[in-house]
Amino acid sequence: MEYDVIVIGSGPGGYTGAIRCAQLGLKTAIIEKYNTLGGTCLNVGCIPSKALLDSSEHFFNASHTFAEHGIKLDHLAVDLPQMITRKQDVVDQTTKGIVFLMKKNKIDTYYGVGSFVDAHTVKIAKTEGGEETISGKNIIIATGSKPMSFPSMPLDKKRVITSTEALKLTEIPKHMIIIGAGVIGAELGSVYARLGAKVSFVEFADSMIPTMDKTMGKELQKAVKKLGADFYFNHKVTKVENTGSEVVVSVETPKGETITMTGDYCLVSVGRKPYTDGLNLEAAGLAVDGRGKIEVDDHLQTKVPHIYALGDVIRGAMLAHKAEEEGVFIAETIAGQKPHVNYLLIPNVVYTWPEVAAVGYTEEELKNKGMAYKVGSFPFKALGRARASMDIDGLVKVLADKETDELLGVHIIGPRAADMIAEAVMAMEFRASAEDVSRISHAHPTYTEAFKEACLVATDNRAINM
Ligand code: FAD
Ligand code: NAI
Repeated sequence: MEYDVIVIGSGPGGYTGAIRCAQLGLKTAIIEKYNTLGGTCLNVGCIPSKALLDSSEHFFNASHTFAEHGIKLDHLAVDLPQMITRKQDVVDQTTKGIVFLMKKNKIDTYYGVGSFVDAHTVKIAKTEGGEETISGKNIIIATGSKPMSFPSMPLDKKRVITSTEALKLTEIPKHMIIIGAGVIGAELGSVYARLGAKVSFVEFADSMIPTMDKTMGKELQKAVKKLGADFYFNHKVTKVENTGSEVVVSVETPKGETITMTGDYCLVSVGRKPYTDGLNLEAAGLAVDGRGKIEVDDHLQTKVPHIYALGDVIRGAMLAHKAEEEGVFIAETIAGQKPHVNYLLIPNVVYTWPEVAAVGYTEEELKNKGMAYKVGSFPFKALGRARASMDIDGLVKVLADKETDELLGVHIIGPRAADMIAEAVMAMEFRASAEDVSRISHAHPTYTEAFKEACLVATDNRAINM
């Protein structure tokens, strides 16, 4: 079979790219090694984690805030198997939706491991058995990433686990030790802390979510601490041992002393690594760089120009919507268009409660770049809407150019921050100033008023409600 485009991998980057190729009239095939489409995001990432975050948040609110709302509940209990079943139902509905979209767009779907035979030919070791070879004028590598670990923390996937296992536990941990207080640690740590687990974070850096604006990490730590979590910042894990019913984690303190911590589960969430196993890249004249990534240029072309790569397997943020933008970008490039991705304005969201969401530069990045900026902050507790819903933790922090007032970064920790950040992305995409936003009517009462107020602070320190 001969195709205009072969996509290897059906995650958000691969399936979105395939659909855009088909929309543009290109004969397209997609190859997926698992039995379900949708990749990490739909199967063991974005979707199942959000399903569990929502369920655990309902439980936490029912047990902690309903009484203050005047709602009394007796005999509240967690049915973890049902919680996991519901999560899996959501995943199944979502992945089946991708099968429907492939059919609707007349994309040929092959289930099996794809590997290069040469720069135009891909062999599929089919899941159902046997092999098939197809060729493509263009090939998109969209094979994503896998969880990372270190030799000192060997994964056994029973007690020393990754996010994949943490999404299908059969019991609520008594004590979950989480190595890495980044995005996965913050989200899945929140899930189990809300369900009653003791959670301890061991983190190499000096704060939670250390790559985001420092104010966000500090505020998030306060919120997660309220769930009863402990934090060991600037600590280094030296050994992780599964003793059968327990996990013993040895940790070096900042003073160089060794302490041990005992838990029943240890979640290793220290980042993810690009995945290219089994692709036989050499046959196509390709190789990975020192960090395992496939190198691409500004057009997302590898050094073999008709072979493109996207998403987690290349440089940049490991985010579903970044991969999706790149899928569309490649399809339109192949079709002869001149697309564009603005990497600075890819938003970043952590789905804790309060949620954290950001776009553009952090304050630390502006300092490092020596850019002159001004800051406008507004706390949610000053908003009527936030008091009505009892979501008073957090703030909006706006960074604007000191001279021109152009928005350079927006960082939100607060209720519905994940949805609120869209307004900031839109404003920054149109190169709005803080004053532009502060002169736009925002419905009252809404959480979005905090963004307008923070922009008023940045403009001329003239917030109305503070
Ligand atoms: P992937 O989604 O990893 O898909 C790659 C696919 O390629 C896989 O299905 C794999 O089986 C297949 N494949 C690999 N090799 C071959 C081969 N040789 N032949 C055939 N098929 C192959 N991002 C967000 O933006 N928002 C979130 O809320 C979010 N939550 C997350 C939560 C968790 C717990 C995790 C782990 C990740 C989360 N992410 C989130 C990150 C997001 O899942 C990834 O950034 C995204 O899935 C990357 O998309 P991709 O298309 O590059 O690759
Ligand atoms: P991460 O990069 O977000 O966080 C890893 C953390 O581990 C960092 O804080 C780092 O300092 C720490 N760390 C690294 N080595 C360590 C060590 N030896 N000891 C102690 N701490 C150590 O990676 P994470 O959380 O594993 O997530 C992987 C990726 O998945 C993220 O980068 C993100 O792109 C994606 N993701 C996105 C989500 C979202 O968009 N909401 C949710 C979950 C994952």
